[in-house]
Amino acid sequence: EINFFFPKEQTLAVIKPDAMEEHKEEILGEICASGFSITQLKETVLSRDVAEKFYIHHRDKPFYIQLVDFMCRGPCMLLVLTKENAVEDWRSLMGPSDPQLAQQTMPTSLRARFASDILHNALHGSSNQEQAQEKIQLLFGDITSHKDLTSNSELDP
Ligand code: TYD
Repeated sequence: EINFFFPKEQTLAVIKPDAMEEHKEEILGEICASGFSITQLKETVLSRDVAEKFYIHHRDKPFYIQLVDFMCRGPCMLLVLTKENAVEDWRSLMGPSDPQLAQQTMPTSLRARFASDILHNALHGSSNQEQAQEKIQLLFGDITSHKDLTSNSELDP
């Protein structure tokens, strides 16, 4: 029997501030149950500067300022997820950006279950591998760019 080798891929996932209080544990459970390895994890309040850079490709959109405000209003959980086909598989586990569409088309997806509206949509996932690497570098590459809360949280072993 031939042993095929499937290369691992990384994606960036973010649990956004709206989902942190009520849904964090359940989302983490679903991530693990779906076969992802969590290779990096950090709970942090994004600085405005980092949130602006994170969504810089949307700077000309009418929702940009609201989006940046929302992303730094409270703690986020930043996760590097690793598995085969991680980028696409995480996006399909999240479901569409708009939770109304998610409920209609992918009712078991995480956004169908946990998002409130298109802005407060609970989760982020990279669109492609290049964007994943760029945003992982932004969020995990420079530890001085934002305050790390992990060492003060119950997540710390
Ligand atoms: P986008 O990159 O299009 O979606 P996704 O997060 O699914 O990759 O948009 C980034 C975020 O911007 C999205 O998660 C929520 C917000 N957003 C709005 O608030 N209003 C909108 O009309 C759109 C398209 C996005």
